[in-house]
Amino acid sequence: MRPREFCFTERDFEQVRTLIHELAGISLSENKRELVYSRLTRRLRATGAKSFEDYLRNHLKEGTSEWEGFINALTTNLTSFFRESHHFELLAQQLRRLVARGSPIRLWCSACSTGEEPYSMAMTVLETLGPNPPVLIQATDIDTQVLALAEEGTYAAENLTLSEARLHRFFHKGVGKHSGSVRIRPEVRRLVTFFQLNLLDTHWPLHFPLDAIFCRNVMIYFDKDTQYKVLGAMARHLDPEGLLYAGHSEIFYHARDFFHLRGKTVYQLSPRTASGVVNQVEQR
Ligand SMILES: C[S@@+](CC[C@H](N)C(=O)[O-])C[C@H]1O[C@@H](n2cnc3c(N)ncnc32)[C@H](O)[C@@H]1O
Repeated sequence: MRPREFCFTERDFEQVRTLIHELAGISLSENKRELVYSRLTRRLRATGAKSFEDYLRNHLKEGTSEWEGFINALTTNLTSFFRESHHFELLAQQLRRLVARGSPIRLWCSACSTGEEPYSMAMTVLETLGPNPPVLIQATDIDTQVLALAEEGTYAAENLTLSEARLHRFFHKGVGKHSGSVRIRPEVRRLVTFFQLNLLDTHWPLHFPLDAIFCRNVMIYFDKDTQYKVLGAMARHLDPEGLLYAGHSEIFYHARDFFHLRGKTVYQLSPRTASGVVNQVEQR
């Protein structure tokens, strides 16, 4: 085995696990040691740290921007356009019902990564409701690096999981030095507002009540207690008739105080929570 570039002890690993759990809710299992090493070595090189101990003790200080680098390095951002496509068909059905209501429709993509998910929501909105729809899509993530890419809305054309029709309708094809990439069109971009939001924060600066929350493939990184707290807060931000879209492997039976499964990993508020939310909304 090649000698390691940086000394990385069991104690360092435990410290990283504790910190990322406190900061982002992410629970790293024992077997993520190598992953942590390879993700954080970039930060050690960038900061000039001599070892993990040096990095954790001297570079990761409160009030420095390195917290951001630390969190960004440890998040997993895998995503794609129209991932778990049945959810977008359900969203289209929900939008058709909502538009009849006559008031603005508010959607939240709560772990938006590099933007593929909120832009898929925006494309679904345009396909379902036509131009200038009364819809606001709030798209948030803890990771500032992926948010910057999402705002840019430029993607490599190869390996895109999009039909030719959608590519043509919703993207500009790059030319010259941009050939091989595509950029989301302004009419899609305009529907989405990106900003940083940590799901662990006690205050979420969102426009609510929300009609739909997409919270997919992020809760898998949280332990059950953290999931419970986040789901409780989501329930308080959701319209009584609103829906929570979860990832295919995310089961929230332990939070049935707040949510009931409606089918296909889509949840609705449990009856008691829904009536509580109605009261809150009426009081505002
Ligand atoms: C695997 S991606 C999922 C992306 C997208 N939702 C999807 O299903 O394709 C998980 C995202 O959750 C974000 N994340 C992790 N912890 C978070 C937290 N505490 N608050 C907000 N976002 C978080 C990560 O930065 C990452 O972009």
